[in-house]
Amino acid sequence: MASQGAAGGRSLFPIAVDCGRNAIFFAIAVSTIQRILITGSTGGVGQLAVAYALKQGYTVRALTRNVAKARPLFDQRVELVTADLRLPDTLPAVVADMDAVLCCSGTTAFPSDKWQVDLPDQPWEQAFTWSRVLFDADYRQMYAKNSPMVADGQGVTNLIHAAKQSNAQRFVFVSSLGVERKQQFPFSVLNTYGVLDAKAVAETTLRSSGLSYTIVRPGRLIDGPYTSYDLNTLIKASTDGKQAVVLGSGDRLLGQTSRKDVAAACVESLGDGATVGKVFEIINQGKRPATLDWSQLFATLQ
Ligand SMILES: NC(=O)c1ccc[n+]([C@@H]2O[C@H](COP(=O)([O-])OP(=O)(O)OC[C@H]3O[C@@H](n4cnc5c(N)ncnc54)[C@H](OP(=O)(O)O)[C@@H]3O)[C@@H](O)[C@H]2O)c1
Repeated sequence: MASQGAAGGRSLFPIAVDCGRNAIFFAIAVSTIQRILITGSTGGVGQLAVAYALKQGYTVRALTRNVAKARPLFDQRVELVTADLRLPDTLPAVVADMDAVLCCSGTTAFPSDKWQVDLPDQPWEQAFTWSRVLFDADYRQMYAKNSPMVADGQGVTNLIHAAKQSNAQRFVFVSSLGVERKQQFPFSVLNTYGVLDAKAVAETTLRSSGLSYTIVRPGRLIDGPYTSYDLNTLIKASTDGKQAVVLGSGDRLLGQTSRKDVAAACVESLGDGATVGKVFEIINQGKRPATLDWSQLFATLQ
């Protein structure tokens, strides 16, 4: 079990060394996580991760591209910093002094205003621009300024490099189910505009970065807070908090995942040595127990 750190954070890897007959046990706190940078803090998973981390006693710095938009979401306990994952020069200052980075940011898998396409004034020109974004990959690459490959691929890569240059001891990344099954339905459809390719780029960069990492792969996200207006938002899919959490490895699970459980899994990973160097899928399935035992869930990871 991870132990509670001095300032309310968690000590990772307490190592007990048995020194013969005297059985002297030294609990060596190899690292202590207290200060966390959370990206995507204005988003669905990100907001919940901020709340969960504060509840666990962590000190949170929330990265946002727009402080004015973020401020009403949080109280004074959260330090808000402005940066953009696409702009590497904005990252070292916000990663500095952080013990861990929790990356919950991302853009939409399918074209939306979140892709930040520059649109001309005339409606017919706008329709033409969108049709080119939809069907012309080169055009998309050039004019969709926050497409999956830009935000989830290159942007996260920039963040990983900045974390590596700083003193960050841990990096937890929200990826997606299907990264290893991009050719199979329904992931082939999900990957139409390259979101799984982008997640794969970030995963590969993180795994080879030398950082102590955990990669969390949720299924289709459900439950609030709802921050993007897609079909999922309209039907308000929900577990009603009634389904259990199932973790897996090898990208074999299929299902949907409550944003709340993704946020909890990310924050709990920071303090649990069993998740270091692990890539795991998370879905909701079965009857939920009265309380979730995350260390028990993590102990099953391969
Ligand atoms: N939706 C699904 O079904 C699904 C499934 C599997 C995995 N995921 C992944 O789960 C994660 C969380 O999803 P969500 O639905 O909670 O996300 P969300 O509500 O859409 O929020 C996305 C967040 O990313 C931030 N962001 C976007 N581009 C950025 C950039 N260039 N620089 C800095 N921040 C940027 C946004 O900040 P702004 O406020 O500045 O826009 C926002 O806070 C994402 O990584 C997503 O890919 C989603």
